Amino acid sequence: MALNVVIMAAGKGTRMKSALPKVLHRIGGTSLLDHVVRTAAALGAARTVVVTGHGAEQVEASLAASPAGGAARCVRQEPQLGTGHAMQQALPALDDANATTLVLYGDVPLISAATVRRLVGTSAGRALALLTVELDDPNGYGRIVREGAHVRAIVEHKDATAAQRAIRETYTGIMAAPTALLKRWVMALSNDNAQREYYLTDVVAMAVAEGVPVLAEHAASATEVAGVNSPRQLAELERAFQRAQAEALMDAGVRLADPARFDVRGALSCGEDVEIDVGCIFEGTVHLADGARIGAHCVIRDSRIGEGVLVQAFTHMNQAVIGPRAEIGPFARLRPGADLGPEVHIGNFVEVKNSTLAAGAKANHLAYLGDTTVGARVNYGAGSITANYDGANKHRTVIGADAHIGSNCVLVAPVTIGEGATIGGGSTINKDAPPGQLTIARARQVSYAGWERPKKAPKKSG
Ligand code: UD1
Ligand code: MG
Repeated sequence: MALNVVIMAAGKGTRMKSALPKVLHRIGGTSLLDHVVRTAAALGAARTVVVTGHGAEQVEASLAASPAGGAARCVRQEPQLGTGHAMQQALPALDDANATTLVLYGDVPLISAATVRRLVGTSAGRALALLTVELDDPNGYGRIVREGAHVRAIVEHKDATAAQRAIRETYTGIMAAPTALLKRWVMALSNDNAQREYYLTDVVAMAVAEGVPVLAEHAASATEVAGVNSPRQLAELERAFQRAQAEALMDAGVRLADPARFDVRGALSCGEDVEIDVGCIFEGTVHLADGARIGAHCVIRDSRIGEGVLVQAFTHMNQAVIGPRAEIGPFARLRPGADLGPEVHIGNFVEVKNSTLAAGAKANHLAYLGDTTVGARVNYGAGSITANYDGANKHRTVIGADAHIGSNCVLVAPVTIGEGATIGGGSTINKDAPPGQLTIARARQVSYAGWERPKKAPKKSG
């Protein structure tokens, strides 16, 4: 059944105490609104309408820039006179050909597609279907007033009697309704209530008066219908979201040292026998092949890590590709374009950028490789760097297979080190070094026999 989805996102979010519009705060690296827009896309919504108000320009720009949000239409609600008023602004953007309209909130990010699919199924083009949840503390929420199994009304907390306030079944804000009926009802709303707001929830009493069935579906969990109003709630939902991702990975066989200290802000895919220690953050799209082990407190973004790779603690990686059985870190930094072959070793305080290292190459300590092609089995000494930037342009360094670069060398690019060459420690190399030879470029060591240290002049007395 073709579906309109309306996402309410005009509210202020005062309690966030932030200049950023509430729905642009993030969970798992994705804005609250983008989570909801993605859910709408997962439902196959024929049309998605986002109601914007506070921070509308920023919210609309963010939607336009997001893959899932690009197709959404935005309507402005100014001023914000309640959820019913928000819906009134959305009406002209609804497609009448879509029999059902689903209402979601931009600040309820974790609602599952399965739950709302169930709700749309319950509406079935003829009924008003409400998503409800039983809360231990229903304070502030609209209460579901029933007569037996039938829902009679939603009463807002501020309008409720003491008896109604004792009801623990609350309205989540999510509903599905026949588009034609919803349009008619929403046009007839008034603001005759405690808050002088247009309540979308008043459509329930209208449906009841017309004999249209009003059916309630329970949410699968309180978490999926939880809204974000404050930094505390944002952090709570972040942990719930991360917990769910961690559990899905563990169910697939990934061994997490502690699912409570694990964050994925994007998509992490793993082979078999992957182990991840505490405090790691995965961003963007990351793949860990079979047997990969990630040490504590690594930050890994948009990278592919091969079979049996060992990444030791405190390694930082962005847009890197790591071949099988390589060993990286601790304290390594792999920047965009780091492409490491099988069994490469990158040790502590080594930075690699836009460089290819062939099988078995090693840079174990305190080094920089930028814009470099490194041959197989090269040993790159402690403290050596490629001087790849002349102040205006970047240049490449090529190091042939089996070359040995001593400690504390500067390879001034563009420069080529031949296969099997040895570069003496402390050399500054600005001309190509031939294969197979020892090249040294530093001042010769001299010793002066009979040399004496200067002495202090004797103190003047008197
Ligand atoms: C609403 C429901 C209440 C329900 C609660 C669940 C009404 C009248 N009440 O409460 O029954 O228990 O949600 O959280 O609908 N918004 C706009 N424009 C507005 C007002 C709100 O876009 O003029 C958006 C907000 O950004 C937010 C959502 O609608 O995403 C809910 O607004 P909020 O003020 O938090 O909910 P209530 O109206 O208090
Ligand atoms: Mg309100």
